[in-house]
Formats: sequence, structure tokens, C-alpha cells
Amino acid sequence: MNKSVWWAVARSEEVNSDKPINVNIGDDPIVLWRDHQGTARALEDRCPHRRAPLSLGCVLGNGMIQCGYHGWTYDGETGHLKDIPNLKSDAKFPKLYRAQAYQVVESGGFVRLCADTKATPIDAPSQSLPLSGSVDVALSHDQYLAALFDDPSLVISIRGVLFTPYLMSELAEVDGQLVLERSCKWAGPHWPSPFTSDFPITLRISTDPVTGESELLLRDDAFKPLLRARVAPVPAARGVTQVRWRAKLESQRSGLRAKLMGLGQPFSVLSSVDGAALRVLRPSASIHAAALRETMTNTQPAEAGVA
Ligand code: FES
Repeated sequence: MNKSVWWAVARSEEVNSDKPINVNIGDDPIVLWRDHQGTARALEDRCPHRRAPLSLGCVLGNGMIQCGYHGWTYDGETGHLKDIPNLKSDAKFPKLYRAQAYQVVESGGFVRLCADTKATPIDAPSQSLPLSGSVDVALSHDQYLAALFDDPSLVISIRGVLFTPYLMSELAEVDGQLVLERSCKWAGPHWPSPFTSDFPITLRISTDPVTGESELLLRDDAFKPLLRARVAPVPAARGVTQVRWRAKLESQRSGLRAKLMGLGQPFSVLSSVDGAALRVLRPSASIHAAALRETMTNTQPAEAGVA
């Protein structure tokens, strides 16, 4: 796992000072909470004393986190041990006892972490989109991205929209992002024929080659935005991918079907994947994406396809 990468591990509203939460980056467990000043903090989710998860502890009034097992207390900014209950007043804390601290930034409604304390701050979008959700998906991070590139319907849902297999533009590198544009059509009957060759809407997917964080833009036939979404998949333990997302339905939408998008949940990230559809899905854009990711990141190649 690249330690200098910034991962969107939570939505801002998931992190509070009432109860710490556990997240993962790969096999690394992390505890997240807000201190008394509202700043999000992150430490390795293992107490340096006896390895109990700090996420089972509590947040104190001074913003520090206290382990629920024996009450040792840690500072969220540095990970330093600050208090041991019932210790003699002149006793010193051994330096050995220190939890790994993560850099934390908050932007665009996401809390992002980096394990490298010297990493440069991320330049992330600041606009927060009002709709949001979090799901755990039983696919690896590479498999998840491959499914998004090859058939978005396996991992996301946009109300009233069907994703076709046809690409308006092949996947390519644009300004350091993997970008493709897929033809879409409205769901439901098409009069006078149930078949249509008219694909009036398009979905543009722009993906960071390392994190897989993707910006989705659905546009109508006049290329006016209908819906925007940001999907942030993070590799977690046991091959699971934790996905946080935010979305916004544009208020100015022309046409009946576009207007109907606002009647229910317009966007969601699916928590379970249709295994039968996934098994027979032929890798297409994901093959190109894997090759580009390898070139752009100069790291190990991503898995091609989702078979
Ligand atoms: S295991 Fe955390 S204080 Fe003992």
C-alpha cells in the first residue's frame, strides 16, 4: 500500500466526537473521531498497550481518545500517550507507547487520510454534494474499478437511466485522470419500438489512477448536466472495498424523464454485486484502464477485468 496516497475514508458527517469509528486502508485498521475543536483525527486502531481497538473506547472532553480496556489516553494529532490511570504523579510515559497518527484533511464532504506525515496536502474538490452514502462491497479495489469501467450498472444506479455498452469516447488519460464517456438511455418503454438507437444521455467518468476516486457527470442530449456524483472506493480488509459517495441532482433539468429523476433516490452505490452478471461480463475498458494505470502510476498493474 502506497503510504503517500490520500484516501477518502469517511464522509464528514460520519465522524463525530460522540463515538469513534473504525475504517480500513487495506489491512490497516484506523480509528477516526473529532476532537473538542471539531478537527477530525485519525490513529492506528490498535492501542499500543495490549492492542485493543481504540474505536471501542471513547472521546474525552479534551478531544483525546481513551482506550476502553485500561483507560490509556492518546493525543489525536501526534498519537502520543498522554495519560495512564492511577499512575504515580512522578512516573514517566515510555516513548514506546505511541499510536501511529495519520495526516487528516477534510474537503468536499469527505475526510481524507494519508499515512505519510511528510506527504504534500491533497488538492481535492471543496464542493460538498448534498446526497451521500457509504457501503461495503465484496469486491477488491481493482475488481470494483474494473466493474465501474466495464459496466457501471453492476456498482451504481442512477434513477431511470440505463447504461449501454457503447462508449462515446474510449478511456484515455486526461490531465492525470482516466476518463471515459458512456452512452446511456432512459429506462422504460420506447415508443413506437421497444428498441432504440437513440442514446440521448451520456455518463462521463473521470477516475484518479491510484485511489480510483471518480467524478461522475450525467449529461442530457444538449450536454447540460443532470447529475454529478463523486465515488470514493478504498481498499479494506479481506478483499472488501469501502465506498463513500456524494451526489447532487441538478435543479435545471429539461424533459419529463429528467424531471422524474427527482421523485426518488436519484443516485446510489450498490452494496451487493450481481455475481451472475459479473461472471459473464467481458473485460473491455478495464483492460485499457489497467494498462494506463500501470503507466501513470509506475506501480504494479491493476487486475484487468472482473472475471
Ligand atoms: S489495551 Fe488499551 S489501555 Fe490497555
